[in-house]
Amino acid sequence: MTEHLHLLHILHELQQKHRYISEKSICEVAAQLSLPVSQVRAVVAFYAFFYSTPCGHYHILFSNCTSCGYRAGGTDLLRLLSQKLSVNIGQTRKDEQVSIDETSCIGMCDHGPSLLINGVPLVHLDAEKIEQMATLIEADKPLNGWPPAWFHVKDHIYKRGLLLDSSLSAGDGLRATLTRGREGTLTEIIQSKLRGRGGAGFSTGLKWRLCQQAAGEAHYVVCNADEGEPGTFKDRMLLQQHADALCEGMTICAYVIGAYQGFIYLRGEYRYLLPHLQATLMHRRKLGLLGTAILGQTEFDFDIDIVVGAGAYICGEESALIESLEGKPGIPRSRPPFPVAHGYLGQPTVVNNVETLIAATHIACKGSAWFTALGTPASTGSKLLSISGDCAAPGIYEYPFGITIQQILDECGAVNVQAVQVGGPAGTLLDQTAFNRQLAFEDVGTGGSFMIFNQERDILTIIHQFAAFFAHESCGFCTPCRVGTILLKQGLDKIMIGQGARNDMAELQRVSELVRRYSHCGLGHTAANPILDGLQYFSQAFEQRLTPYDFTARFKLDAALQEARQLTRHDGKEAHLEQGQD
Ligand SMILES: Cc1cc2nc3c(=O)[nH]c(=O)nc-3n(C[C@H](O)[C@H](O)[C@H](O)COP(=O)(O)O)c2cc1C
Ligand code: SF4
Repeated sequence: MTEHLHLLHILHELQQKHRYISEKSICEVAAQLSLPVSQVRAVVAFYAFFYSTPCGHYHILFSNCTSCGYRAGGTDLLRLLSQKLSVNIGQTRKDEQVSIDETSCIGMCDHGPSLLINGVPLVHLDAEKIEQMATLIEADKPLNGWPPAWFHVKDHIYKRGLLLDSSLSAGDGLRATLTRGREGTLTEIIQSKLRGRGGAGFSTGLKWRLCQQAAGEAHYVVCNADEGEPGTFKDRMLLQQHADALCEGMTICAYVIGAYQGFIYLRGEYRYLLPHLQATLMHRRKLGLLGTAILGQTEFDFDIDIVVGAGAYICGEESALIESLEGKPGIPRSRPPFPVAHGYLGQPTVVNNVETLIAATHIACKGSAWFTALGTPASTGSKLLSISGDCAAPGIYEYPFGITIQQILDECGAVNVQAVQVGGPAGTLLDQTAFNRQLAFEDVGTGGSFMIFNQERDILTIIHQFAAFFAHESCGFCTPCRVGTILLKQGLDKIMIGQGARNDMAELQRVSELVRRYSHCGLGHTAANPILDGLQYFSQAFEQRLTPYDFTARFKLDAALQEARQLTRHDGKEAHLEQGQD
């Protein structure tokens, strides 16, 4: 067992024990790990799940995901619970019994409104459950005494394909790999034309080859299990049901590139999967599939550690993820050099998505022809989709690449569809005219999120929610993204409340292009996608909310002077601007 002392692990433990991380704890941890205090302080400040003031004994985070949200049957459940418990949103109650806030999508979109309570997901919320929760919290009932069904995260799999239909026993892929040898296995992965399933679609075989050839003292394999893109939950199911195939994919990669150490970087929202993943690792060590002399090969040693993130979407970006693995804030690095040459601790590192590594295990076992028999020439094999929003059966679907958007909508029971957001907020917003397009890297690419919005949805509200998401998740490192995402959100705020003029639409377009072009990393490059798509395909949704003027100020001058009037205690009629004057 190679469990190591990781800064994030220690901070998670402190957070759970004391409900916050004090300055004293920060100094102690820094001394314990021989790290600068400033680094530990910066890490605590960076990650959303670490707090510098105490949270409640019951710390509740509602998912504010655009497709499922926290509304059910017309009730705003977040506000309902905050009223029932007399606690303001974003605050801890005076007796420290409870704190309530929102968080970005927690990957439970197929379970309706959901929340995390002390890090554990509670799904299928409705007004009745909220009432019961409030009673249990006031009675100080421990979570293990709450109805177990509330915490049951069922995997809704509606369509199985190439990966989900075929079974493998632990070790099958590895044995085939040892038979084929290093080069033979790599050739098979290259010939399969497998492309990364995390979104960008880079060739997996080429990534492994580049890493194998890169000089370094050690090589590393990292599984990106951050799954932060709103509307994506297929990795959650894979981690739960296919953890063996995932670890095997990492081990096969390790064999090919010559790595002794691997990491699963698990998103903080999926911390509840940790015991299961640790059990899988233990079991594989017992079977001789991890550890020293794997399957009796004296020169084949490899093991895997799990590092749990702490609520930062940007840590899904591979270089930010590596920074986080190194115990730092997840600020993306400048690239090149790319992780394959200069990754974890400056050494050659492969970072792959969960689904990619599982596909690699199957390819190692069944061969590249099995894989290329499906899909399109440029996008072979299948893709797992997390389908959510307005359809009869939200859940996981596996399709061969090349399927059209309309076929998918038909299969999941989506009618009267206004728009589909493929690939999450960072992806593509499609209107009806595009439903004949294909799901494939050469047409509409995706990491797996597929959100459906019917005609009853207000598309501008959706775009506004995406803009709020990016403004919240921008890591703040570079100005075009840090400032630009806020400006975009504010521009949409203004249009949403009916104060936007025509020049605000032009401004949105201009700022969007600046953010896309001048940002440092992929988050900024894609943050304006929903706005740009919205302006192009749903301009009506913007225009119908505009004022008839060419220009309106971003704020009301008379209202802005209210604080000054209060301070000077001069609030008579003469201290107000006449109507229309502002
Ligand atoms: C802001 C941002 C968030 C990302 N989040 C994820 C993620 O949660 N999971 C993932 O596999 N890739 C994510 N990626 C893509 C990774 O940077 C990287 O391309 C991927 O993990 C490579 O694995 P693959 O080749 O198997 O797709 C993200 C990229 C960006 C820019
Ligand atoms: S683009 Fe945004 S997320 Fe990326 S480095 Fe700049 S501020 Fe951070």
